[in-house]
Amino acid sequence: MKSCVVVGTQWGDEGKGKITDYLAQESNVVVRYQGGNNAGHTIKFDGKKFALHLIPSGIFSPKITNIMANGMVINPKAFFEELEILKKQGVNDFKLFVSDRAHIVLPYHMLLDGAIEAYLGDAKIGTTKKGIGPAYTDKASRQGIRVCDFIDEETFAQRLEFNLKVKNPLLKAYGLEELDFETVYNEYKEYAKLMKPYVCDTSILLNSLLEKDEKVLFEGAQGVMLCLDHGTYPFVTSSSPTAASVPLNAGVSPSYVKTCLGITKAYSTRVGEGAFPSEFEDEVAHAIREVGNEYGTTTGRPRRIGWLDTVVLRHTRRVSGINGISVMLLDVLTGLKELKICTHYILDGNEIDYVPASIKDFEKCEPVYKTVPGWDEDITTVTSFEELPEAAKNYLNEISDLVGVPINIFSVGPDRLQTIVVKEVF
Ligand code: GDP
Ligand code: IMO
Ligand code: MG
Repeated sequence: MKSCVVVGTQWGDEGKGKITDYLAQESNVVVRYQGGNNAGHTIKFDGKKFALHLIPSGIFSPKITNIMANGMVINPKAFFEELEILKKQGVNDFKLFVSDRAHIVLPYHMLLDGAIEAYLGDAKIGTTKKGIGPAYTDKASRQGIRVCDFIDEETFAQRLEFNLKVKNPLLKAYGLEELDFETVYNEYKEYAKLMKPYVCDTSILLNSLLEKDEKVLFEGAQGVMLCLDHGTYPFVTSSSPTAASVPLNAGVSPSYVKTCLGITKAYSTRVGEGAFPSEFEDEVAHAIREVGNEYGTTTGRPRRIGWLDTVVLRHTRRVSGINGISVMLLDVLTGLKELKICTHYILDGNEIDYVPASIKDFEKCEPVYKTVPGWDEDITTVTSFEELPEAAKNYLNEISDLVGVPINIFSVGPDRLQTIVVKEVF
C-alpha cells in the first residue's frame, strides 16, 4: 500500500502544488482533504502556468482520480469558475469526484468573513475573505449545508431558508444588506445541477482504490503553522492540514497514512497577521520577495519574509509526523552572501526550543541564528545534489540535521523539471 501526505511545514505557499503535481506523475489518486479556495497552488510545466484553488493538483493527467474529500469547504461558484479556466487552458480530460459530505460555502459566509475582519480592525486575522472560517463555524454548529443536501433541491431550499433566517440579522448587525432567499436559491440551484455529476461517497471510492494498492497522494492546503489546533491560534485557518487530519477528513483508516512529506521553503513566508519570529524587513527581504515572486496566489498580497526557522520545522515534524522534507525555492537564495537559520528562541531571557501556545509569548520570542555561507552560482539547471555548490549542499545538510529528517527532494525553480529527487518518496 503506497500513500503519501503532502503537508506544508510553515505558513502555507511552500510549493505543495508543485510537488503534488510532480509526484502525481507516478500516482493514481490525488485527494484534497481540507480547506477551500483560500488555497492557491501554482503549477508550471511545458511552458504553461496554472493556479489551483479547490481542484486537486492531479487534474492534469487523465489517468489520475482526483478527489475533493469530506473535510473540504467548497464554494460552488468558485468551483465552476476554476473548471472553466482550466478548460480554457486546455485541461478537458480528467477524473474528478466531490464528496457528498463536504460542506458548501455560500455568499453569506464570504460576507461575514469580510465583516468580522473589518470589525476586528487591528486585531484582524488577515483572512483570504473566502468565507472559510464562517463555513467551518456552520459545520461545527450543525448549520452547514453539505453537498448531498445542496444537490437535493428541496433540502437545499429548506436549509438555505433556515440559514438566511439566522444569518440575515447578523449581516444587518454588521451594517450589510440582507440576502434575498430567491436570488441566492435561483443562482445556486443551477450550480447544484452542474455539481451533481461529480458527487459521490468519496470515502467508498477512495477505500476501494486503496484496497487495489493504488498510489494515493493526499494534498494538504495551508501549512501546519496555520493549523486550527497546532498553529499560531487565533492567526490560523479553520481546518487542520496535518497528516493526522487525513483519516477523518478523507474517510480512510489511519493505517492508510504511510508517509508524510513536509514541503519547506528554503526561507519562510507568511501572509496575513500573526507573530513571525524570524521575519525581517530590509533590502535582502525585498530581494527575496521579488526574486521568489512572493505575492499571494489567491489574494495577490505581498508575503512577509523571514529566515528559515527550524524551531517551527521541529514543531511541524512532531505534530504532523514528517518522514522527510522537500526543500523548495532554493534558487531564490542564490547571490546572498550569508544565510541565517533560526535554531532556537530566547523567551524572557531563557533559551527555548518549542513554539509557545500563547501568542503573547510567541510574539516575544527572539530568534537565535546560525549563520552559514551563501553561494553565487546559478543552480536553476542542476539535476543532482552533487552538482550543487558546496555552500548549497551544506545549507541542505544543515536543514536535514536541524530538523532531524532526510531531504527527499529539492527544487530550484517553479517548473516541473526543476525538481531533484535525492531520496525516493514512495
Ligand atoms: P502552495 O500553496 O504551497 O502550492 O505554493 P504557492 O503556489 O502558493 O507558492 C509557491 C510559489 O513558488 C509559486 O509561485 C511556485 O510557482 C513557486 N515555486 C515553487 N517551487 C519553486 C522553486 O523551487 N523556485 C522558484 N523560484 N519558485 C518556485
Ligand atoms: P496554500 O494552500 C498561505 C492564511 C490567511 C490568513 C489565515 C486565515 O496556498 O498554502 P482563511 O482565509 O483561511 O480564514 O485565512 O490563513 N491562509 C494562507 N496563507 N497559503 C494558504 O494556502 C493560505 N490559506 C489561508 O492569509 O492568515
Ligand atoms: Mg499557495
